[in-house]
Amino acid sequence: MLTDLKPQAPDKILMLVEEYKADTRQGKIDLGVGVYRNPEGVTPIMRAVKTAEQRIWEAQSTKAYTGLAGEPEFRNAMAQMVLGDAPSDRLASLATVGGTGAVRQALELARLANPGLTVHVSDPTWPNHLSIMKFMGLPFVEYRYFDNDTRGVDFEAMKEDITKAGKGDIVLLHGCCHNPTGANLSLEQWEEIAAILEKSGAVPLIDLAYQGFGDGLDTDAAATRLLATRLPEVLIAASCSKNFGIYRERTGILMALAENSAARDLSQGSLAFLNRQTYSFPPDHGARIVSTILTDEGLRTDWASELEDVRNGMLVLREQLASELRDLSGSDRFDFIAQHRGMFSRLGATPEQVKKLKTDAAIYMVGDSRLNIAGLNRDTVPVLARAIVDAGI
Ligand code: LMR
Repeated sequence: MLTDLKPQAPDKILMLVEEYKADTRQGKIDLGVGVYRNPEGVTPIMRAVKTAEQRIWEAQSTKAYTGLAGEPEFRNAMAQMVLGDAPSDRLASLATVGGTGAVRQALELARLANPGLTVHVSDPTWPNHLSIMKFMGLPFVEYRYFDNDTRGVDFEAMKEDITKAGKGDIVLLHGCCHNPTGANLSLEQWEEIAAILEKSGAVPLIDLAYQGFGDGLDTDAAATRLLATRLPEVLIAASCSKNFGIYRERTGILMALAENSAARDLSQGSLAFLNRQTYSFPPDHGARIVSTILTDEGLRTDWASELEDVRNGMLVLREQLASELRDLSGSDRFDFIAQHRGMFSRLGATPEQVKKLKTDAAIYMVGDSRLNIAGLNRDTVPVLARAIVDAGI
């Protein structure tokens, strides 16, 4: 039987991790996978996470199963972090295996509710969105998003395409820090998106994997909160991997805002069912770290301030890179790097140019020219800037 398996296409981002590891050149630079690294190149454990783990270790007296939907403390704390004052009578939620698990369960939930749906997804988007939908056999169409000339959002085209989503379709949106482009909507533009969805009855699925990495925890959640206030139904897949730095703990949450409390109860039951069919109980350790931090004022303040340092560090690197490139190229065509937000920017280079960066300068970025700003430091920014200009980008 197993001999009949067909080889699966490897994930492009994860393949790059392996390629980078195997490169023996001194001074190689990894701008691939979306993992934060400090100036020393380390992905640190945040101070509040360490303290929370110690407290959990001291206080925990059992490892018996939690609830199928995860612990209420985690789900309530996350609802508060993402939605602010959440309308709890309409909110169903589910602890998931990371943000990816939340995306997957969101799509499963949507398909249970409407087997005939089409998913509308930004061009480009996180490649695994497409891969998951292909694997599930879910029909999807892309809406135009990135303008390769301005490296900003082609908002008119986006609106035109999103208008085509019908009632009960899903429109997959990046709540902040668009992955892979780094180009984001203004709040006024989000208002227009809300109006389009309100009119059509298409349901937004908001992927919120980088809250706190763009303009701050609350600002990054503003679009999600806006849609949650304006629309009867909203799905939100939030990840704790990046903003708590607990990547390997696989901590995420799916929130489903329903039209009324009866639909909320139906959704809650379906969510628990989906976890049971997939892996039974969701992982608890990461979720417990998160709820320990978010429900303790001291830990929360310390965590939020460390996250702010991370965010501001990335903004400084963005400014530095844009300014080096201005000097070296004698033009302002790379200024978009300072305007983009989140971990990533899409340079708009050709696959050949991206390859040249790898071959000539040992600089690794995803083939679509997405670079991870958090993979840089003060000393590697000038190296990258020089290589970009040398590659003719
Ligand atoms: C990324 O986009 O690099 C991250 O979300 C990591 C991943 O799983 O792809």
